[in-house]
Amino acid sequence: MQLSNEQIRQFDEEGYLFLPDCFSPDEVAALREEAVSIYDTDRPEVWREKSGAPRTAFAAHLYNEAFGLLGAHPRLIEPVQQLFGEPVYMHQFKINAKSAFDGEVWQWHQDFGTWARDDGMPDPKAMNIAVFLDEVTHINGPLMLVPRSHKEGVFEAGHDLSTTSYPLWTLDNERVAKLVDVGGIVAPTGKPGGVMMFHGNLVHGSAGNITPYPRKIVYLTLNAVSNYIRKPTRPDWIAHQDFSPIVPVADDALMHYAQRYRQAAE
Ligand code: SIN
Ligand code: MN
Repeated sequence: MQLSNEQIRQFDEEGYLFLPDCFSPDEVAALREEAVSIYDTDRPEVWREKSGAPRTAFAAHLYNEAFGLLGAHPRLIEPVQQLFGEPVYMHQFKINAKSAFDGEVWQWHQDFGTWARDDGMPDPKAMNIAVFLDEVTHINGPLMLVPRSHKEGVFEAGHDLSTTSYPLWTLDNERVAKLVDVGGIVAPTGKPGGVMMFHGNLVHGSAGNITPYPRKIVYLTLNAVSNYIRKPTRPDWIAHQDFSPIVPVADDALMHYAQRYRQAAE
């Protein structure tokens, strides 16, 4: 899948692109069910909220067939290779739960701030791709983005170790207010299967989820191979150190997997 010139212009200008209906209901249903079983397992890659509810599951593309296919899917890999003009590898892979009733906040931050400070990534030549597994609505903690906030590099940030179970380099309110004066805030919503790509310096965050509706989103972070991380400090299931280029699978590989998955369940 290739982006049009208009999509590339929009990405450069606004810092994000939303592509509804990228994956079919069958493809996403299989991923959603697998995500729930992963959250039910007791393994270090499954990170929990202070309440015990799942917050995120790292690196499932390495041990789960469905997420392995998603992590090498041409609908995700090819547009990023197109934008960067080179092959990409997986820097991080996570399935964020934003659990019904218990999903906690992600404070305002820039991801490249973390990749640079914690992992020694040289440039913001890495892309976040969000794949909606549940319907994302305006009430269940959608990801909020500050359009155009990707143009001024990395802002000063504080290392917040206490608000949630997950340490994060967060921006102060004054900075966020100034950026929002310029770009506003958007929170793309939509059905499972929607995809959102956003720049590593784009400011984003999300509120807690107190509704009965879970909001699972998978995030791939695809890094240009030449931009491999130089000073890792985190476990390699959080910030991977296998810099081999991803070889995309066939476009219908996940669809065939989903068909077999449904038949096995019947
Ligand atoms: C993130 O910023 O890495 C995750 C935010 C979210 O899932 O709401
Ligand atoms: Mn983030």
